[in-house]
Amino acid sequence: MGKPENSLSDFIIGSPFLFEFASLPNALFNAIKPKIELVPHPLPASFRVRNTDCVSSLLKLFSNEDKHKSIALQYDYFQVYIKSIFLKSSVYKDEASEFFLGENLILDEKLMECLLFTTSFTINLTDVEISIFSKIRSLFSRYKYNKLHKYMTEVISKELLNRTDSRSDSQLVPNDAIDIIIKNKNKYSLYDYKLIGSSFGTILQLSSSINGSRLANFLIDVSFNVRIYNRLAIEQITIIEKYGFKINEAQLDDMVYLDAALKDSIRLTQRTVCERRVEKNYIFSNGAIIPKGSIVKFDLFSHSRNVRIHGNYSHHFVPERNLLNKTKLSDVLLDSFIWSAGDHKCPAIGYSVTQLKIAAAIFIRNFEITQACNLNAKHKGYEIFNTIRHVNTELYLKPHNILEYKFT
Ligand code: HEM
Repeated sequence: MGKPENSLSDFIIGSPFLFEFASLPNALFNAIKPKIELVPHPLPASFRVRNTDCVSSLLKLFSNEDKHKSIALQYDYFQVYIKSIFLKSSVYKDEASEFFLGENLILDEKLMECLLFTTSFTINLTDVEISIFSKIRSLFSRYKYNKLHKYMTEVISKELLNRTDSRSDSQLVPNDAIDIIIKNKNKYSLYDYKLIGSSFGTILQLSSSINGSRLANFLIDVSFNVRIYNRLAIEQITIIEKYGFKINEAQLDDMVYLDAALKDSIRLTQRTVCERRVEKNYIFSNGAIIPKGSIVKFDLFSHSRNVRIHGNYSHHFVPERNLLNKTKLSDVLLDSFIWSAGDHKCPAIGYSVTQLKIAAAIFIRNFEITQACNLNAKHKGYEIFNTIRHVNTELYLKPHNILEYKFT
């Protein structure tokens, strides 16, 4: 337990107190207030709380209903997206977005601009950005965000309305993610189209910024280790030979080594998170008093490298540790604490695991992933921003037919 300087938080809690920290109810350690207070987001607080609830409902919907279709859409999306990386300067104007938004919306240039901007917008005010300059900078970008967010919400909600008017929901065979929402809107009590428009935009935005950065870190991790790439490639070849190329739920379940590799890569790039506002004076089990009004957070960065929890070589990328301890990426555990725990755990677990596995599998199938461009390349550590990123920004993607891959 420590008291950091130059930080947005008053106290940082370490691994021995995680169980206690994670079990405290919202009435004592409030999880919502810090998100509203510390994150100078352009949208009003009350709208953001409703937006988060609606994001959770939509994520539940995508993970449960028409799951087969959701996986197929994401497979199609990443096939087109990944191939287009080498052909276009901006992948956001790519036809791949059609699998989520439908054919009308991808023709809207301004909507594509909104998605591009809101994706790169810094949402969290982290400890590295608390200077006065960062705050002024964020004021300007918040103004632009507001304008673009309004446009995005209007366009998506109008599309939802138009399609609802022109189709019978129960008989709808979904073509894209918007159709999946319309088909299931009654079951999930999704009636406020403005809110859905905004929440759907948030999901696209977070998928790209959170899952996108985890995927980028994973690819860099793999590029440094031919042995790990080979194991990943063997697993994909076995799956293709068993089921063919299309990815469905059964294939995702068989990607056991990929699951372990993603989990270990994410472990290494976890930021200190889970800010809580203390609602009443609280005495921890070691006698330390945390006064009412303090902001407390959990030191996930050190927890993720704790040798007693993760074993030897805890600073290294070793997927096998998850095969030995028989844990999966989707597990909600105090040891990994990837998704937090309790009432405020991430609502996007199923959605993100599926998305990351599909995207990573398509990369492995389409490219040999190495550092061959720089034979002396070394792991240069991590930079902490909104998310944690590798300092290394280069990797070598050599297009190949994985079934003819020559193992080295
Ligand atoms: C690998 C990717 C991701 C990881 C590791 C992750 C992790 C987390 C963690 C640790 C929390 C809890 C924070 C706390 O306790 O205060 C959280 C909350 C949340 N996450 Fe994720 N997340 C991921 C991807 C996503 C994506 C893609 C979305 C949206 C599409 C999303 C939406 C949310 C929301 C809305 C919350 C707030 C829940 C609440 O306060 O009730 N996450 N996430």
